[in-house]
Amino acid sequence: MCGIVGYIGPREATEVVVGGLQRLEYRGYDSAGIAIFAPGAGLQLRRSVGKLSNLVARLRETPASGNIGMGHTRWATHGGVTEVNAHPHRDTSGEIVVIQNGIVENYLELKGRLLEQGVQFHSQTDTEVIAHMVGLAYHQTGSLEAAVRQTMGQLRGGNAVVAFCVREPGRLVAARLGNAGGVAIGVGEGEMFIASDMPAILDYTRDIIFLEDRELAVVTADGVQITTLAGAAVQRAPISVPWDPVAAAKGDYKHFMQKEIFEQPRALTDILRGRIDVERGEVYLDDLTLDDAALRKVERIYAVACGTAWHAGLVAKFVIEQLARVRVEVDYASEFRYRNPVLGKDALLLAISQSGETVDTLAAMEEARTQGVPAVAIVNAIGSQAARVADGGPLYLHAGPEIGVASTKAFTSMLVAAYLLGLRLAAARGTLTQAQVREHLQHLVELPGKVAEVLESSAQQCEQLAERFHHATNALYLGRQINYPIALEGALKLKEISYIHAEGYPAGEMKHGPVALIDDTLPVVCIAPQDGIYEKMLSNVEQVKARGGQVIAIATVGDTVLPTKADHTIFIPATSPLLTPVLTVVPLQLFAYHVALRRGADVDQPRNLAKSVTVE
Ligand code: F6R
Repeated sequence: MCGIVGYIGPREATEVVVGGLQRLEYRGYDSAGIAIFAPGAGLQLRRSVGKLSNLVARLRETPASGNIGMGHTRWATHGGVTEVNAHPHRDTSGEIVVIQNGIVENYLELKGRLLEQGVQFHSQTDTEVIAHMVGLAYHQTGSLEAAVRQTMGQLRGGNAVVAFCVREPGRLVAARLGNAGGVAIGVGEGEMFIASDMPAILDYTRDIIFLEDRELAVVTADGVQITTLAGAAVQRAPISVPWDPVAAAKGDYKHFMQKEIFEQPRALTDILRGRIDVERGEVYLDDLTLDDAALRKVERIYAVACGTAWHAGLVAKFVIEQLARVRVEVDYASEFRYRNPVLGKDALLLAISQSGETVDTLAAMEEARTQGVPAVAIVNAIGSQAARVADGGPLYLHAGPEIGVASTKAFTSMLVAAYLLGLRLAAARGTLTQAQVREHLQHLVELPGKVAEVLESSAQQCEQLAERFHHATNALYLGRQINYPIALEGALKLKEISYIHAEGYPAGEMKHGPVALIDDTLPVVCIAPQDGIYEKMLSNVEQVKARGGQVIAIATVGDTVLPTKADHTIFIPATSPLLTPVLTVVPLQLFAYHVALRRGADVDQPRNLAKSVTVE
C-alpha cells in the first residue's frame, strides 16, 4: 500500500519519479505528490488529491525540475484524503521532506511528545510525525543519515521511509522497519533509483538491491551504502531481475485487468516451462529447497494467504490432499497468528501471495519460523519479502507483473503451482505411480491451450451477459467441492470491481438460508463441470430455477442436460477434475470485467483498494 519512488542522477528527476509512480499507482490512488530539488530552484513540492493524472495536470501548470527527488502515491490510513495529508511531508524548517509506506503504530504517543515540544502539525498523518522527528534529530546531529537512524529507532510498526534534506543535496536516505513496505534500490550507471516495487524502475535498471528489515541505505548517484539501524555495515550485491518492463505496459488492451486475463495462456505456459517432463513423468521444482526426505516427513500443510490467494489455498487443499495424501489446513493469514496455532512437528507452512509483500501473510510465515516450521512460498513478485524469507524456497509463478488490482493471472498460476507442488510431494511420498504422474502432466500441458479456448469461446458471451445483468444489485455464485472456492473467487471479482454485492456459497448449503434471497431478478452463477458432484449440482440448479432465479451455468463442452435447465450456459473444455477451477474461473473474470465496464467503474483501480496490502 502506498507507492514510493526516489531518484538521483543526471536525468530529469520529475520524469523518472512521475513515470515510476505511474507504474505504482495500483498501490494506492487517494493522492499523489513529489518533491524535487535543484540548487537554483530549491525544494519544489507538488501534491494533489485523487489520481496521479491530477498531479500530472498540476505539474503542467507549475512544473518542477531537478536531478534528485522523490514521489509517493497514497492509500490513506491516517487522516482523510486531502491535499494536506498527501505526501511528501516536511519538518518545521521546511528543509527536510519525507515519504512513507506503512503505519507508525505509536504515532499518537510520538505526536504527543512533539506537540509538547511546540511542534505544529499541518496534517493528520502519521508520516508528518516522522518528518518532524527527522527534522529535530537533524538539527542535533547535523546528519540526515543519523537523523533517520535515530528516528527509525523510535518507531513501532512497519514502515519504508525515504528522506531528503536540502542541506545534503546529493543523497537520499531510505530505511525499512518490519514487513510493511519493501524498498528496492535500483543500481544504474551514475544514477540510482528507489522504489517500493520493481515495475517503477525496471525501465532503467534490472540490478536491484532489497533492503531488509531494520536496514538503512544512503543513496547517492554513485552508489549505495547499507547499514543496519544499529550501524553495522551490510554488504549486499544487486540481484539481476529478469522481468521485461514491456510486460508491465498495457499495450493494446484497455485495462491491465483485461490484458492480464488474456495473458493467462502465456502465464500458464511459463509456470510449466522447465519444470515438467511428461514422457518421464517427472516434476522438477528446483527452487524448492526441501529434498525428498524432508517432503516425505511432512504430515500436515498449513496454507495461509489473503483474498484471492486464500481462494487459491482452498483449491490447493483439494489438489494436494488428492495427489499427495497429506492433510492441508487453510487459514486466512490475517487470522492465523492471532489464534496461537498449534502447528506441531513435521508441519509445513505454504504461504501463497502474488505480491509477496502482504503483511499478514509475512506475519504468518514469521509465526511458522518461531515454531520451527519451514515455510514454502508460492509467490509471483521476484525478490519480494515472502520469496526471500521462505526457508523451504520460493516457488515462483513467473506470471510477470500483475498490475490490475483484481488478481487474475496470478490466481490461475497459483492453482497450477499448487498442482505442481502436489505432484512433487506425490513423487517424494510415492502416492502416485509414474504413469499416473504422466497422465496428470499431460492434462497440465494441455491446460494453457484450453484456457485460450475458453477465452476465445466465451469472451463475447460474457460481454452479452454483462449487458443483461449489469444493473443487478446482488449476485449469487454456487459451486461444490473444488469449485466452491471458484464461487467465492467469482463473487469477489464481481464485488471488488463492479461494487455489486455478491456471495459465493457451497451449492449444497443454499437450502439452509441463502435460498431465501432468490427471486427472478437474482443472477445465480452455477459452476457445474462434469465431475463427481455434477448430478448434485444439477439438483441445485433445479432448486434455483424453481424459485425463479436467473441461472448462468458453467458447463463442460458436450453437456446437453445443464443447458436445458439454465438460462445461459458457458462451456469449458473437459480436463482433469482437479484442474477444472483453472478453466471455470476464466469466464467469471471476464463477466466481472465487462459488468464493471458497463457500470463505469474504474476496473484497474477499484475504490478503496490497493494491490499490495502492507498494513494490517
Ligand atoms: C483480489 C485481490 C486480493 C489479493 C490479496 C492478497 O482480486 O487481488 O484479494 O489476493 O490482497 O494479495 P497477495 O496475493 O499479493 O498476497
